[in-house]
Amino acid sequence: MSNEAKLLIEGQEHVLPVTVGTEGERAVSIAKLREVSQHITLDDGYGNTGSCLSNITFIDGEKGILRYRGYPIEQLAEQSSFVETAYLLINGELPTRDQLRQFSEGLTENAYLHEDMRYHFESFPVTAHPMAILSSMINASSCFYPGLMGPANVERLPIHATRLISQVRTIAAYSYRKSRGYPIIYPKKNLKYTANFLHMLFSQPYEDYELRPEVVKALDLIFLLHADHEQNCSTATVRMVASSQANMFASAAAGVCALWGPLHGGANQAVIEMLQEIHASGDDGSKFIEAAKDKNSGARLMGFGHRVYKNYDPRARIIKAACDSILDKMHIQDPLLDIAKLLEDKALNDSYFVERKLYPNVDFYSGIIMRAIGIPVEMFTVIFAIGRMPGWISNFKEVVENPKSRIYRPRQVYMGATQRDYVPVENR
Ligand code: ACO
Repeated sequence: MSNEAKLLIEGQEHVLPVTVGTEGERAVSIAKLREVSQHITLDDGYGNTGSCLSNITFIDGEKGILRYRGYPIEQLAEQSSFVETAYLLINGELPTRDQLRQFSEGLTENAYLHEDMRYHFESFPVTAHPMAILSSMINASSCFYPGLMGPANVERLPIHATRLISQVRTIAAYSYRKSRGYPIIYPKKNLKYTANFLHMLFSQPYEDYELRPEVVKALDLIFLLHADHEQNCSTATVRMVASSQANMFASAAAGVCALWGPLHGGANQAVIEMLQEIHASGDDGSKFIEAAKDKNSGARLMGFGHRVYKNYDPRARIIKAACDSILDKMHIQDPLLDIAKLLEDKALNDSYFVERKLYPNVDFYSGIIMRAIGIPVEMFTVIFAIGRMPGWISNFKEVVENPKSRIYRPRQVYMGATQRDYVPVENR
């Protein structure tokens, strides 16, 4: 196959180089197109635009394949842990026993926030959404590390990455405690990553939260499955901010804001709210499916559809099985799970969803697990953000370590008013 493409514009032929990825993905490089032809490409929403070369995550949306650094998500979900997967994403290789121990110890040592950060938490109203607190506090905590300011120091990246992965969990737990008016619970040295998070979330000063292994495992799996997903909205945002040489914490805080929206990470909260509404209305899901197909109804089947997956999201398959397992182990019968299964069954057999290749995505079942664990709905997207942190950091690292990195600066096609003369206010 030729490694060049030809583009004919107004009778003039332009030869464009084709870049081929390691999994055979082919991309026509248009970096010089405007220079040679005075044309740019237009791709609203970037659906067909490759914004970078990346070595981190591979997705084949048609086949439903997801791999971190070449390892299938199914194998990592079965055999790895969130912390090991975070190491893999950031460093490119699975850690040796010693490397994993050192990384885990670094996470434990860096779990504490600067004590002055507590005062920042106090200034938020109790009604503040934890995602607003999370993004603000990640950005604020960068002020406590002067070495972070200015263009990234590549040698300091590992320590900043360790701090951020560890502290996002502490900030997340504090933001929940704040929203409930509960006292802050400090991390414990003897607890591993996910167990420590649950402890900070649910323990009380007078009583430690009882850590059930199946609960720790289920939440660890949710973190792992969210750890990266190539150039989604929030990761592309992190790379965009990183490209201006903003620091790692500022770039991650921007990622949190992008993740918040209901079309992205906020979908896990939207799914549970949708299921609760269906349940409260007495519907088993049948009426809602009809509304979701009607463009005038304003309803969408949240947790369904994906820009890249035109097949079953492999993460949704793993989460669905984990959902059945944890509910069974905890002896919980959740009517929302029955509604979700019915919605899925109906959608997968309905021509509207089949023709548009709309399948359950990662958010469809994750909320039911989090509900069973006792995590409140407004924290769901925060859990997603904790999980996605290694992915954001790996992408940040890829940008700042690339000597050829340039500031991200897309172009546009201007469709506004052409030149006109200013009219003084008395004449308008
Ligand atoms: N329910 C009903 N119809 C849908 C849904 C849905 N969930 N998703 C897409 N469609 C329809 C659209 O109306 C459109 O129909 P049309 O061709 O007749 O106009 C068609 O399917 C294509 O949809 P788009 O919105 O153009 O697809 P896009 O790639 O832009 O959006 C998205 C993908 C945002 C995920 C969309 O499917 C959606 O809104 N899903 C629900 C929200 C959700 O679950 N988001 C989480 C995504 S995964 C993640 O971020 C972790």
